[in-house]
Amino acid sequence: MIGAARAAILAAVLLSDLSKMELWPAANWRAFAKMLREAGLTPPRVSPIVEKTAGVHPALRRPIRRHHLRALSSPAGVLMRLFMFSEKVTAEEANEALGEWLPRVQSIGLLRTETEGEISCPFVLSLFNNLLLFSDELSHGGDAVIGFGEGTIELCRAALPTKPIESALDLGCGSGTAALLLSFAAKRVVATDINPRALSLARINAAMNSIANVEFRLGSLFEPVQGEKFDVIASQPPFVPMPEGVHNATFLYGGSRGDELALTVFSKVAEHLTPKGRAVFRVDWPLYGEIALEDRLFQTIGSASDLVLVSAPTVSNEDHASAYASGAHPLLDDAFDREAEQRIEHLERHHINGIVPSIVAVQKSDSKQGTALRLPTVPFSKAPVESVHIDQLFAGIACNRNDRVLLSSTLRVPEKTILAQEQVGPGAEVESSLWARFADNALGQPVQLTPDLLFLITCIHEALDVRSGLESFAEQSEIALDHAVNQALPAVRHAVKTGLLHVVVA
Ligand SMILES: C[S@@+](CC[C@H](N)C(=O)[O-])C[C@H]1O[C@@H](n2cnc3c(N)ncnc32)[C@H](O)[C@@H]1O
Repeated sequence: MIGAARAAILAAVLLSDLSKMELWPAANWRAFAKMLREAGLTPPRVSPIVEKTAGVHPALRRPIRRHHLRALSSPAGVLMRLFMFSEKVTAEEANEALGEWLPRVQSIGLLRTETEGEISCPFVLSLFNNLLLFSDELSHGGDAVIGFGEGTIELCRAALPTKPIESALDLGCGSGTAALLLSFAAKRVVATDINPRALSLARINAAMNSIANVEFRLGSLFEPVQGEKFDVIASQPPFVPMPEGVHNATFLYGGSRGDELALTVFSKVAEHLTPKGRAVFRVDWPLYGEIALEDRLFQTIGSASDLVLVSAPTVSNEDHASAYASGAHPLLDDAFDREAEQRIEHLERHHINGIVPSIVAVQKSDSKQGTALRLPTVPFSKAPVESVHIDQLFAGIACNRNDRVLLSSTLRVPEKTILAQEQVGPGAEVESSLWARFADNALGQPVQLTPDLLFLITCIHEALDVRSGLESFAEQSEIALDHAVNQALPAVRHAVKTGLLHVVVA
């Protein structure tokens, strides 16, 4: 979910003016960011504060954070309260923490003086991988610009390539997190958004972090990059179903059903990929109709591509509705009740029966007919999807398409997989079953095994490649190699699909 509880879409309050901030020279932003870092806005100082509230509902975090922030010595504590956690500080505290910077940042509208003389910041500063990023307070709704949330982190992990690349596109960049991270791996990055305010904040964020190889372009979907191709495309398009009558928020709603905008992106993405390019999306998909989700997505991108869908457990309509309604109405008052009910009714009217958080990756297929692979897994917060996993899943598709490739591949059972014989309750007569359970932070769901399959998997896991694994399997089972290959390859292919074996990617 897009930081559901942060998405407090209360009313379309006027957003703070950015015009003076946009005109501030890049060198000023760089120097300002340097001062903030030197004053203590660094991951080792900020992370412990954020972690204190990690398991607490966002609406309930404020007092806990406040308690720990007050214990921090100035200036780091004051700067965190002011810039990162939307708290007012006294003029004295601001002056002590910011010194000569105070009038300068006040003059461009980054800080303002409240009627009682306290100082507040109408923006939210976040810290991600040492990047300092300004975004809007989402309660403003409308064109407020989202900062990085859980979904952004999940997108970045899955999209960041393991090797240097030429070009990358961040479609719907918001405050620019993915584009700025991609700028370390790509020679050039294009960041687009339909919301000019998003581009303004993203430009400021590029300057704050001394990043100069990102080009920002305004426009809808692929309009700003017509005819261009990229090695990596990363996108978290708006995907929340929009009930009638709620305030619009550009960053949030993907259409009435929720998936309309994302499906339009999917229908065009293949033409914007270089031959070895990859697109990675973070989308929550509504479930409806007869057709399987992976098939719907596969039909939309076109059959010349391969598609990998890593899906977390389905979120019920009720959980979805209450999460987004509580984001809009953190006091959980009557308005919360009304909106939660309205959202459930809206989903039911669209025959939606659950929402699937997912990472989807698309690549040109090496075959005329592409393949769609779905790997159901645990929540992304438990087992994050990294780009190396996506590499392995695409390699698995390629192996499974061609026996020669499969036979020469090295396959391994994921590290720390537990193989367990289980039975429900005591008693020698009770039947038991054999399971492979993956490590807590590994992708996939438990796979049931037979003793024969376990033996086969073990032979392959211990061998340099599948062919030698099958030779060992045939020899120890005292069967002819041809027979072993014919018998065993379908089981090996299935093991690759379920994540029981993964391809070792060079
Ligand atoms: C969910 S936010 C994601 C922002 C950022 N990429 C992230 O992951 O944090 C979706 C972004 O898409 C932008 N957007 C909405 N409709 C769009 C469209 N038709 N074309 C391009 N961008 C769009 C919104 O303005 C918003 O910045």
